[in-house]
Amino acid sequence: MINALIIICAYLIGSIPSALWIGKIFYKTDIRQQGSGNLGTTNTFRVLGKKPGIAVLLIDILKGTAAVLLPLLPFFADSTVHPLFLGVIAAAGHMFPIFASFRGGKAVATSGGVILGYNLPLFLILIIVFVIALKLTKMVSLSSMIVSAVAVIYVIVHWMLTGEYALLILVVVLAGFIFYRHRENIKRIKAGTEPKIKGF
Ligand code: G3P
Repeated sequence: MINALIIICAYLIGSIPSALWIGKIFYKTDIRQQGSGNLGTTNTFRVLGKKPGIAVLLIDILKGTAAVLLPLLPFFADSTVHPLFLGVIAAAGHMFPIFASFRGGKAVATSGGVILGYNLPLFLILIIVFVIALKLTKMVSLSSMIVSAVAVIYVIVHWMLTGEYALLILVVVLAGFIFYRHRENIKRIKAGTEPKIKGF
């Protein structure tokens, strides 16, 4: 019972559609109707600007971190669900949110939050890789996929050195989610039509 509750809780946390709610409440704008239509940080920056973009980024990261840390709550002390599984559930909630007709984002920031809550050194490495990739490519989508690929390489090496396979499974699943959700971006990148960010 407690295991079911903690999984539902992780899903509901992941489901919080920060980009939709911030857009609707503060800007009377449904960002699903504008830009790429994606409920994520990049499209919030694109459609609404810097402040709401940063707010969405932080909330979406926090969702992943909060899900991984749920077992620390005394109420969930008896849960036997692996924290990383809760992270995967939160990322799934972000992509398929019950509060937004199951049309959510691409799980980049929420996956980052999961890694932040479980493996801080890996999170910091990925932030550095992301900034370098973004400087070079000017495309958030491509940078997100480069980071996902680097994360997979990291966890394969980590697994070979330590034998810890939970992180390997988590990162491979999250990277799979991220590549799958970027299908349209991949087509645009190939066609040379993917939007580039300015001023970075
Ligand atoms: O965070 C998602 C990002 O990688 C791409 O978003 O709106 O450009 O499709 P978007």
